[in-house]
Amino acid sequence: MADTEERAEVDEAEIAAHWKEEEWIHPSESFVAQANMADEAVLERFAQDKFPESFREYADLLDWDEPWHTTLDSSNPPFWNWFVGGKLNASYNCVDRHLEKNRNKAAFIFVPEDEGEVDQVITYQDLYVRVNEFAALLQDFCGLKAGDRVTLHMPMTPELPVVMLACARIGVIHSQVFGGFSGTACGERIVDSESHVLITTDAYWRSGKLLDHKEKADEAVAKAAESGVVVDKVLVWRRYPGKVSAATPMVGGRDFYVDELMKDYKGRRVAPLSMSSDAPLFLMYTSGTTAKPKGCQHSTGGYLAYAAGTAKYYQDIHPEDVYWCMADIGWITGHSYIVYGPLANGATTVMYEGAPNWPDEGRFWNIVEKYKVSIFYTAPTAIRAFIKWGDDWPGQADLSSLRLLGTVGEPINPEAWMWYRKVIGAEKCPIVDTWWQTETGCIMLSPLPGVTTTKPGSCTMPLPGVVPDIVTKDGESLDDNLGGLLVLKQPWPSMLRTLYGDHDRFLETYFSEIPGSYFAGDGARRDEDGCYWIMGRVDDVLNVAGHRLSTMEIESALVSHPQVAEAAVVGFPHELKGEGICCFVTMTVQDQSEELKAELIAHVREQIGAIATPDKIRFAAAVPKTRSGKIMRRLLRDIAAGREEVGDTTTLEDYTVLASLRDDE
Ligand code: WTA
Repeated sequence: MADTEERAEVDEAEIAAHWKEEEWIHPSESFVAQANMADEAVLERFAQDKFPESFREYADLLDWDEPWHTTLDSSNPPFWNWFVGGKLNASYNCVDRHLEKNRNKAAFIFVPEDEGEVDQVITYQDLYVRVNEFAALLQDFCGLKAGDRVTLHMPMTPELPVVMLACARIGVIHSQVFGGFSGTACGERIVDSESHVLITTDAYWRSGKLLDHKEKADEAVAKAAESGVVVDKVLVWRRYPGKVSAATPMVGGRDFYVDELMKDYKGRRVAPLSMSSDAPLFLMYTSGTTAKPKGCQHSTGGYLAYAAGTAKYYQDIHPEDVYWCMADIGWITGHSYIVYGPLANGATTVMYEGAPNWPDEGRFWNIVEKYKVSIFYTAPTAIRAFIKWGDDWPGQADLSSLRLLGTVGEPINPEAWMWYRKVIGAEKCPIVDTWWQTETGCIMLSPLPGVTTTKPGSCTMPLPGVVPDIVTKDGESLDDNLGGLLVLKQPWPSMLRTLYGDHDRFLETYFSEIPGSYFAGDGARRDEDGCYWIMGRVDDVLNVAGHRLSTMEIESALVSHPQVAEAAVVGFPHELKGEGICCFVTMTVQDQSEELKAELIAHVREQIGAIATPDKIRFAAAVPKTRSGKIMRRLLRDIAAGREEVGDTTTLEDYTVLASLRDDE
C-alpha cells in the first residue's frame, strides 16, 4: 500500500503517452439496431434512487422455485444478501429449462487440441443426461450432500462443466482449481476447502503433448494429508474412456475411473435441489497478499442472476450466437462466461482444449471460421501474442461471423486494442474491455456495446448500478485525472459473500482499507468524460499474462528449496505477458550458476505450476529491507525493470546490497 502513489506516477506517465493516440469509437448502426441493450434508458433505470430494485432485471432472467421477497438485505454489511427468500437451482437454470425449446441445440462445442480427433457437439439434451448421471454418482457413490465441498482439478475437457453443474444440482459446492496448477497447489486448496473428494482427469493435450495429469492428484492428496485432510475418493475421468492415457497408477480403494463407475448410473435422474438464493454455489481460489490463497465464496442467486444478465446485455448474447470465451474454466472468467452466464441464456459456447498456436498460429481463427463464432472474448496478453505472430494468420481465415469482441484480465494497451479492432474485428465489432475480478464474480466496468462510445485502452464506464470511485488512501474521492485507488461503493449481486472459513480475512482484505467501500486492490483514474483507466495492482499481487499470482506465494515456493535462504519477488513490465516475474534470491551456497537458476525455476513450477515460471532469477547478497524489516519492493521493482532508482533509500539497511544488485547483469 505504501507504494501506491509511486506506482500511480509511473503508470500515469505511460497513460499520458497513450493519450495522444486517443480515438473515440462509436458502435456501428448495424450493431446498435440488434443490441440487447441499445438504449441509454437502461442507465436511467439503474440510477441511484432505484437501487437496489433495478437489479431485479437480472434476477428476472432466471426461473425461481420460490420468488424472493427482498431484493437486498443490507442489515449486516458487508455480508450483503441478494434476492432474499428466493429459491432456485443453478443446474436447472442452465440446463433443464432449455430442454423444451432447445433440446437439440448445442450447449458446448468442444474442440480437442489434436486435429485428428473429432470435435464434440454436446446438446442441451446430452448435457442434461450427463449432468444427471454424474449427480447421481456424486450422491450415491461419494455420499455427497448439499453444503459439502468437492475439489475439481480438471483441464479443459467437456466433463468439467458437467461436473460443475452436477454439483450445483445437488447443492454441493465445487471448487475448481486451474488444471495448470501443481498438485501441491491443489492440495493446499483441498485443505482450505476441507474437501474429501477430488475429481480429476488422467491426461490432456497441450502443445502437441498428452500430459499426465493423474500424478498431480497423487501429489495433491499427499499434500492435503500433511495437514490432516483425508481425501477418501479420487474420481478420474479418462481422456479416452476405456483407455489409460496416464502413466501414474491408480491407488486401490481410493482412485476410481469415472467411465467404469458410470455404468451403474446410466439413465439416472436426480431432481434439482431447490437452494436458497444465498446458498454457496462455488469457491474460487485466488491469490492475495499472503502466501495462502483466498477461497472466494459465490452465492447461487446473486451470482447466477448477474452472470446471466451481464452475458445477455453486455456480452450481447443472442439465441443464434456462437460464443467463445477462450479463458480456462479453472478461472473465474471461464466459470462466468463459458459455463454459468452463457448456459443460463441457453447459448452455444465453444470450449477449446489446447494451445492457441497448435498446430500453428492460425488455430484460433480456424475455429472461428469453422464454427462461425460471433462473440469472442480473450485477454490482452493473447492479443499481444497474435500481433507478434503476424496479420497473415487471421488474414487467412474468414472472420466475418464476428460481431462483438471482448477483453479481460489486464489493462489493454491502445495499440493492441486498435489492432484487435482492425485486424480481427474488421472495424465493425464493438470492443468491450471488461474490468472485473474473481471477487466481483462478473463484469463491473465495461462499455455497453450498443451504447457506449469507446476509447482504446479504457474500460470506460461502470455497468448500470455499479458505483465505483477513485479515492486516496484515506478514502477521499479524487478529482478527475488523478491516479488513486479503485473502490466500489455499493454492493452488486455477484459479489463474493465471504472468504471460505475466514470472515475476518474477508473483512480485513476488502472492507477495512477504505471503510464503507469494497477495495479492489487496483490503481486507476477517471478522466473528464467519466471513463476509467486501470493502472494495475497496488498490492503485492502480480498479474502475469492475465493470471493473478501472489508474490508471497512465489517467495514461499522459493524458500522451500533447501539452498534458498531468502527470496523477494516482484513484477516487471513484460512485452507479451504484461508483467513478468523477477526473483531476488539469497542462497546458503556460493553457487551462482545457470544450472542453479534453472533448478530454482523448475522448483517454482513444481510447487505452483507453469504459470508461475520465473522470468528472471537474480542472486543477491541480501534482500533489501527497511529498518522495520519490510522488503523494499518498489526499489526491487525499479531494479527489475532497469529503471533508475527514484525513491528515498535512506531507510535501506545496507547500501552495498543495492549496489551489488544493480551491478549484477
Ligand atoms: C486485472 C479476472 C485492467 C485487475 C476477471 C484485477 C484488469 C485483476 C481488467 C483480477 C481490465 C481484470 N483492465 N485490468 N479489463 N480485468 N484486470 O481475479 O488488476 O483473475 O484486479 O479476475 O485483473 O484478476 P482475476
